[in-house]
Amino acid sequence: MSRLELEVCGVKLKNPIVVASATPTKNAEFFRRAFESGAAAAVAKTVIPDEMGGDPVRTYVRPRFTILNKKGYPHSFTHYSSEFACEYRPDAWMQELREAKKHADANDARLIGSMGAISLENWRDLARAHEDAGCDMLEAWMFACPNLGGSSISNEGNLSLAFDQWVDMIGTAVHAVRIPIYVKVGSEFGIHSILGGAEAAKKAGAAGVTVGDRTSALEVDLKTGRPLLAGGFSGCGGPWMRPIVQKFVARVAREVDLPIAFTGGIWTWDDVVKAIMVGSTTVQVCTAIMYSKKGYGIVRDLLSGLDKYLAKNRYASVNDLRGITLPQLRTFPTLERIPKGEIYVDVLSELCDGCGYCSNWCFYDAISFGSDRIAIVDKTKCDGCGLCLALCPQNAFEMQGDVPVYMGLES
Ligand SMILES: Cc1cc2nc3c(=O)[nH]c(=O)nc-3n(C[C@H](O)[C@H](O)[C@H](O)COP(=O)(O)O)c2cc1C
Repeated sequence: MSRLELEVCGVKLKNPIVVASATPTKNAEFFRRAFESGAAAAVAKTVIPDEMGGDPVRTYVRPRFTILNKKGYPHSFTHYSSEFACEYRPDAWMQELREAKKHADANDARLIGSMGAISLENWRDLARAHEDAGCDMLEAWMFACPNLGGSSISNEGNLSLAFDQWVDMIGTAVHAVRIPIYVKVGSEFGIHSILGGAEAAKKAGAAGVTVGDRTSALEVDLKTGRPLLAGGFSGCGGPWMRPIVQKFVARVAREVDLPIAFTGGIWTWDDVVKAIMVGSTTVQVCTAIMYSKKGYGIVRDLLSGLDKYLAKNRYASVNDLRGITLPQLRTFPTLERIPKGEIYVDVLSELCDGCGYCSNWCFYDAISFGSDRIAIVDKTKCDGCGLCLALCPQNAFEMQGDVPVYMGLES
């Protein structure tokens, strides 16, 4: 058995990587590419019935993709875009899914449908239609999408939903089918909705939760003040979002006993490792497929990096990595308080170029410069706060002393 294999809610997956619901799964042909990438599963673009807004929500604005902070690509750019629901009406979409299922089977991969609805009748009928079309699993789109949920289209509707209504909607879908249903709880409404959504999912009998998504945002044109895209709010995400989603996932993993699919900001294999460490079972990827130079090929890099990491660190299975961060999370009162003077910074004089920035930043007046313009640290004044170490352009500082657990430095 491969290190990467796992089973979730009775469904066997050849690895934890899943292509997320978005443009890369917009029809059967794109599903083929998703499955051939090596991903264990792919989630369909979310299909909606007419009651969710109908054709205006299925017809996209043009243009709809842009990038903020392009200079930060590939590390810290923002994918800013506005795409609504699946372009197909439900009946036509089921035909696409039937085709997609053939590609899934050919690649030993799993097909995951995605649906949103309002009335209980539509939740039931759509869930059944997905099962009939051959989906192995389903994702219930509830509170996640920054365009549908966070724009004016249906935000108010979602916010006004009471906990019991969420439970009813999820429960209706869950009880209508035999395939496992995950509920996608997005960052759009903050941690309380993510936890509330996850608790509703649990109460309704859902098989798991997909935690994350992008967030809705507003960027404006500098000259005119006009909204930059689509005349309003748009979806905003990118690699910078991953630590935020990690926090959401860790909270849900600790407080709600359900398997978690991670979605938001995954860009490299080490992101995948961390997503699993904080408690997720599967890891979804979307923007990296859309915006990286390798397209769907990025999935192979994620898989080989994860596999090598597991081998190097002697994990027999990816299951053994899951959640290792969680017992290491501490509450504020229990954090160590190290007496002043026990840790301090030192200067690596060969790296210091005398630029002087550190003395601007030092709030303890602990840094001065000799005639050679090399920084000198007064250890009796240094607070060990780490700011100079974090900001020095030359990385010329080093923490000294018995640094207890973690000082913002990766090991
Ligand atoms: C263009 C675009 C379209 C998306 N469409 C959907 C959708 O139809 N349903 C859904 O649940 N999520 C949708 N998402 C959200 C993604 O599934 C994913 O949760 C999100 O982009 C965060 O992951 P990433 O950082 O890997 O992109 C969409 C995202 C993008 C960028």
